[in-house]
Amino acid sequence: KTRTIKIEDIHAQAEAFEDAGKILRGGGLVAFPTETVYGLGADGFNAEACADIYRAKGRPSDNPLILHVADRKMVDSAAIVTPLAEKILAAFCPGPVTMILPKRDAVPDSITGGLGTVGVRMPDNDIARAMIRAAGVPVAAPSANISGRPSPTTAEIVAEDMDGRIPLIIDGGPCRFGVESTIIDCTGDTAVILRPGAVTREMLEEICGSVALDPALVGADTVPKAPGMKYTHYAPKAPLTLIHGAPEKLEKAFAEEIQREQEKGNTVGIIVSEELSEKLGQIVPKELIAVYGPRGDYYEIAAHLYEALRFFDNKKADVLFGEATEEDGLGLAVMNRFRKSAGGRVMFV
Ligand code: TXA
Ligand code: MG
Repeated sequence: KTRTIKIEDIHAQAEAFEDAGKILRGGGLVAFPTETVYGLGADGFNAEACADIYRAKGRPSDNPLILHVADRKMVDSAAIVTPLAEKILAAFCPGPVTMILPKRDAVPDSITGGLGTVGVRMPDNDIARAMIRAAGVPVAAPSANISGRPSPTTAEIVAEDMDGRIPLIIDGGPCRFGVESTIIDCTGDTAVILRPGAVTREMLEEICGSVALDPALVGADTVPKAPGMKYTHYAPKAPLTLIHGAPEKLEKAFAEEIQREQEKGNTVGIIVSEELSEKLGQIVPKELIAVYGPRGDYYEIAAHLYEALRFFDNKKADVLFGEATEEDGLGLAVMNRFRKSAGGRVMFV
């Protein structure tokens, strides 16, 4: 049976963190909040405990885990900090960023997929860091979803996927950003973004000068350097197609696609901005419209995207259409996840 502890006051609930620390040190799993998404944690130096993460998620074993740390000393215990990583630590940590670094021997090969490198992340969430401190070791944690599903941004959504599979969920309320951390390869002289996130390319360029994107992110037919980026991901249960176009063209394009599907007898759901939802309210019933936020407000959209993708789980939608965003700033991370959830299907109008 899974227990959930809601944290109302981090200082008054020391026993919650003691419980979590004890479970983690004993080789057990604890789901916990971060500023990006909820993580499914285990002692990062305990290969057997980490093997349970793969089992609980149904995660392919070649997909490495990242280590969550509470402070600089823990970074050094897990990885060798390169000059580039020093800059990123100073500018963005704690924060929504994961640095890929040469690993230390303490990190089991079974959690790095044998890569020789390890992802290290210092979350900007007091509950997460208090839990890591209570564990006393770096905490290995992927997102706390069943493999392939959208990442959880609330404790309730964690429970949908993990109930009965883990002993404890720490509930810290909804996550601030809603998309996973920016993964940056820091092993060389130039920062390479392997997965976009809330530390944007533009923000990194100010600190590190030139910044590269993993070619696989921009459509090149290459194997992504972050192994997890090659999998189908975030997929809703009905097939999703994105529609990209200027705002004044979207209403007509959506209406045509929706009507075409409805004529075939299909029930259509849409994942759209507030603006477009108002225009399509006549042809799509309310319970089949997931609104991700105001058009162009990437912070709101990122924070609600995964919930929107799960919105249709218990509904009988046969096909889904989504409104694509632009790709500047945090829009790059939003569209990276949205495009994956659509299996790459994007229509341009
Ligand atoms: O925001 C986040 O990063 C969340 C929260 C819980 O911290 N965690 C998260 O973990 O998104 P996960 O496992 O779902 O995604 C980690 C990604 C995977 O795509 C994995 O392949 C990649 O990081 N990765 C891990 N270690 C790597 C390495 N040594 N080199 C390249 N990519 C790596
Ligand atoms: Mg994940």
